[in-house]
Amino acid sequence: MKVGLVGWRGMVGSVLMQRMSTEKDFDHIDPVYFTTSSPGSIAPHFGDKDAGVLQDAHSIDALKAMDTIISCQGGDYTSEIFPKLREAGWDGYWIDAASTLRMEDDAVIVLDPVNDDLIDAALDKGVKNFIGGNCTNSILLMGVGGLFKAGLVDWVTSMTYQAASGGGANHMRELLRGMGVIHDAVSEELDTPSSAILAIDRKVSNTIRNDVPREFFGAPLAGGLIPWIDKQLDNGQTKEEWKGQAEVNKILGTSATVPVDGLCVRIGAMRCHSLALTLKLKKDLPLEEIEQIIRAGNDWVKWVPNDRDETVAELTPAAITGTLQIGVGRVRKLNMGPEYVSAFVIGDQLLWGAAEPLRRMLRILLA
Ligand code: HSE
Repeated sequence: MKVGLVGWRGMVGSVLMQRMSTEKDFDHIDPVYFTTSSPGSIAPHFGDKDAGVLQDAHSIDALKAMDTIISCQGGDYTSEIFPKLREAGWDGYWIDAASTLRMEDDAVIVLDPVNDDLIDAALDKGVKNFIGGNCTNSILLMGVGGLFKAGLVDWVTSMTYQAASGGGANHMRELLRGMGVIHDAVSEELDTPSSAILAIDRKVSNTIRNDVPREFFGAPLAGGLIPWIDKQLDNGQTKEEWKGQAEVNKILGTSATVPVDGLCVRIGAMRCHSLALTLKLKKDLPLEEIEQIIRAGNDWVKWVPNDRDETVAELTPAAITGTLQIGVGRVRKLNMGPEYVSAFVIGDQLLWGAAEPLRRMLRILLA
């Protein structure tokens, strides 16, 4: 299979190349690398494969020669190129990290540990467009998909704690610069045990207000948070919040919409997105049974007992970053009633949230 790779140099693309190398995906494909900036340059050698030279990512003819195209190039590229490619008669498989095509009728949102049945049915019907989900939704379903699939969820509120990487590489850099600026402002005082903490705090507050960079986030993130992600919609939701119900139901292929809503908040983590969930279940189930159903959801669920020491050791960005595990913990019954259950779900948004579902879709095509 000739597989065209677009956007392989960016952050999501780089994670995808790493994962494809680790899983030896390149052994099974003829990779062709596309570029928007330097066609004709030597292509990379992922998987120890010579792939000749870089092809022009705007050349419909070059793209048309591919059996499958995986794009991590972003939504603008998809909007520009994908329609032209289809108009030109290309009927290969289009696998995409961008959101542009996600909600189209002829596209499936891919998260195969949760919706392999939907993916298989779509392939049988001749569907050719397979799109990665929004990172928060993919992590939510990788964590508690078992409860959804068992038809147990009446509704869920999802309050998120989203990492800087969701914005992009520049956003991660801005977060780190901000941390440095804050530290620099009070480093002498910090080294002086007798210095007054309220004086330090005053300096830190002024620094956050005036000096922490905000070019990419639009507000200081280091030492704080931003309770808004993505565009403003007319109904009071952010676009990120809107995606919750739309995508979760599409991924699951529900016949009756399960309400999903909540507030999405940017925090100063690097690449782990977390969600604090309130689930209203359709039944009063014992906690042990809820645990079993969540654990059985897929092989990547890392169940963390609702215990202080285990939670602070295992259910944090420090523990989860860079792994494919989806931490699920803090599961308990809430005061609202026996059907109301809390859960905290955490995952690396560049892995299950972005790259992993794409390479697994490629593997499904190759099987
Ligand atoms: N929109 C997400 C975020 C990342 O900003 O965190 C992409 O799914």
